[in-house]
Amino acid sequence: MSVQSDERSMQIVLIDDNEAYCESMRQSLSLHQIDCHYSTHAEEGLALLGTGHCEAALIDIMLGSISGIDLLKEIKRKKPELPVIMITGYGTIETAVESIKYGAFDYIQKPIRFEKLLRLLATISRLNELDNERSSLKEKVLRQAPPIISKNKAIEALLLQMKKLALANLPVLITGENGTGKELFAQHLHLRSPRGHREMVTVNCAALTEGLLDNELFGHEKGAYTGAVSDHVGLFEKAHNNTLFLDEIGDMSLSTQAKILRVLQNQEIRKVGSSKTIKIDVNIIAATNKNLETLIEQGKFREDLYYRLKAAHLKIPPLRDRREDIVPLTEYFLASYSKEHKKPITGITSEVQDLFLAYHWPGNVRELRNCIHYACTMTSDSILHIQELPADILSIRNLPSERQGAFELSEKEIIVKTLQRFHYNKSKCARHLHISRSTLYNKLLRYGIEG
Ligand SMILES: Nc1ncnc2c1ncn2[C@@H]1O[C@H](COP(=O)(O)OP(=O)(O)OP(=O)(O)O)[C@@H](O)[C@H]1O
Ligand SMILES: [Mg+2]
Repeated sequence: MSVQSDERSMQIVLIDDNEAYCESMRQSLSLHQIDCHYSTHAEEGLALLGTGHCEAALIDIMLGSISGIDLLKEIKRKKPELPVIMITGYGTIETAVESIKYGAFDYIQKPIRFEKLLRLLATISRLNELDNERSSLKEKVLRQAPPIISKNKAIEALLLQMKKLALANLPVLITGENGTGKELFAQHLHLRSPRGHREMVTVNCAALTEGLLDNELFGHEKGAYTGAVSDHVGLFEKAHNNTLFLDEIGDMSLSTQAKILRVLQNQEIRKVGSSKTIKIDVNIIAATNKNLETLIEQGKFREDLYYRLKAAHLKIPPLRDRREDIVPLTEYFLASYSKEHKKPITGITSEVQDLFLAYHWPGNVRELRNCIHYACTMTSDSILHIQELPADILSIRNLPSERQGAFELSEKEIIVKTLQRFHYNKSKCARHLHISRSTLYNKLLRYGIEG
């Protein structure tokens, strides 16, 4: 019998204070494609677990200096995922049962029935394979999710925070203006979570009409009302053991808020027409472009729900506050649209770039993406020209001078800050802003900045 489905041998570690016994186990297991590395000391055994790729550990409960249970606890602290089988002799069976509580995979009695041990190891090997398949599937999905492009320090900090939160199973509230990337962040948060191999369930709260609401969220049982000809699974139930993304949460009516709060508090739902409650385990991500604190003051949003949703808060800054992202985002969207349209579009003119850097982007990243999409459709050249941009963006060129002054001020601020950051090294500053040195000199002259 072989425990492996492929040609690789399985790597395990045995910790038992009887050396002769360890050696005989090693020899017997090697006949079944299992490499058994052993140690007669707990400390040395722990070190063995840390080297190479160990797939399971076998530990004697009676280890002499340290009890097998203490060793099990130590292993679970260092390698919580490692399956551990406890070996028990006569008289320690109660301790073995107890070891399950501390996370042992199973226990096996001495004298060991070899067939039973092989079956246990085969199960562990299959579970490990499934785990690997799941993680590579997850990596694949993650690679397919659109990337979050940014060079901005605040966004980089949010990304770091997001990656930690993904492992935490806490409700996360994502706020930011229209088109700042709230849904994109929610997708990444979900994909990086242990539930990320499943598709996140999304509810647009603004689209939930009162009449449809109970049905949509909680589902109904067959016969709950006229027309309910079959059972219907609601969104909360669909999201069991998964992530539920409550988008546009600020647009939800107060009565819906009360219902959602109840589900979050009790972690259970009741289908329309049913007397039974169903336990649910759902991870919540909520997003809004509204200021919930203002809505609370106006009595339009429940404060208790706000605090329940906001165990962690990701605040995405608007694009105009992170202008260093404009050029990398432009390059990213250009590359994707030129691929999609099969037109080799490689860049934008410096005039377009100046306009992009000066514009206030009320629609944020989505507006930039749409603008580039539009211009890619319009152009017949390999670079995008000013006349190919949408009218909204072009209109800032014709604004009265005092309003244009406001945009220029923000560009001036960026240049001053960048110069300070690079200790007035103009080449570095120009490279960072993705403009030529001569464009930078022109701008320094125009804004009266002393370099
Ligand atoms: N940092 C980024 N890098 C790459 N693409 C981005 C980034 N931020 C946003 N996008 C893209 O911009 C578009 C808008 O993003 P998204 O839908 O996540 O924004 P939103 O905040 O949910 O918007 P709304 O408030 O309108 O719901 C999407 O196509 C998204 O992929
Ligand atoms: Mg959105």
